[in-house]
Amino acid sequence: AQAAAGDATAVAHPNIALIKYWGKSDERLVLPRTDSLSMTLDIFPTTTRVRLDPHAGEDSVTLGGRPATGEAARRITAFLDLVRERSGRGERAVVDSENTVPTGAGLASSASGFAALALAAAAAYGLEGDARALSRLARRGSGSASRSVFGGFVLWHAGQASADEEQADSSSYAEPVAAPGVDPALVIAVVNAGPKAVSSREAMRRTVDTSPLYEPWAASSRADLVEMRAALGRGDLAAVGEIAERNALGMHATMLAARPAVRYMAPASLTVLDAVLQLRQEGVAAYVTMDAGPNVKVLCPRAQAQRVARAVAEAAPDSAVHIAAPGPGARLTDGDG
Ligand code: PMV
Repeated sequence: AQAAAGDATAVAHPNIALIKYWGKSDERLVLPRTDSLSMTLDIFPTTTRVRLDPHAGEDSVTLGGRPATGEAARRITAFLDLVRERSGRGERAVVDSENTVPTGAGLASSASGFAALALAAAAAYGLEGDARALSRLARRGSGSASRSVFGGFVLWHAGQASADEEQADSSSYAEPVAAPGVDPALVIAVVNAGPKAVSSREAMRRTVDTSPLYEPWAASSRADLVEMRAALGRGDLAAVGEIAERNALGMHATMLAARPAVRYMAPASLTVLDAVLQLRQEGVAAYVTMDAGPNVKVLCPRAQAQRVARAVAEAAPDSAVHIAAPGPGARLTDGDG
């Protein structure tokens, strides 16, 4: 659909990394230390409308029907400032964003949120650029958002830090990766564990600065990425799961070794990890991944998603369980749906 200049709406879905992004080499440009690889989901979309208001003195941001405040409002305005600087237009904007992630799910909505905002804001302010340019732009809002611009399996290139800012910025973008014959589901166990204690931004910084396990993990993650691409290329979902699981647990090990430690795993997370081990003993190719929170995501063949979801729900009865499959990239809509 064609958006009228000055008013655009975009939809984007969250993504879950199978090779994690953990640690920046440039905080302002949001350049990661390692490449990462993710799967965009087909559930929990974010829809965001950006409308320029030539009469407003400041941006007005509504998230889920409520005015944004504090850090959330500050990050969105900083992102719009970047879009204004690039477009050469100064108008303030009215931003209206709706998330379909169940409240309190604790699933990172920053990826879908900043991917949708990047698309809608670029269209509203008339920024030229292809999907790769949008991915670079979304990255500046939240690193993982660079990957939600694309659907299916997505690789985010770390790029190279450089004295030339433009060169550094253009080197770090995401792009889709073909995975013929891979037909996965991601079973998401939302365990009940309250709000997270440490933001991913702060946790990454602390890990890079203080954890003796960070550099070894980064090195092994680079090797994991090579193996992951090969496993995707030959359609070997069990290998994809095995590599994803070790990469994620290794990331959590780097945080546990930070000073002071950052621990996102809750007792219920470990219960789900045990249930997945049990499933594997029963011959199901199910593997876990976890992000900056207690929720557990289980990668498995799509045909076995119901069985995995049942086992997870039985093991952690207080958790809500959702089943996702690979989903689409971010797109502009006409705003009606
Ligand atoms: O993009 P951020 O700042 O929300 O960081 C996301 C980091 C992890 O979710 C833990 C890993 C990843 O690659 O998505």
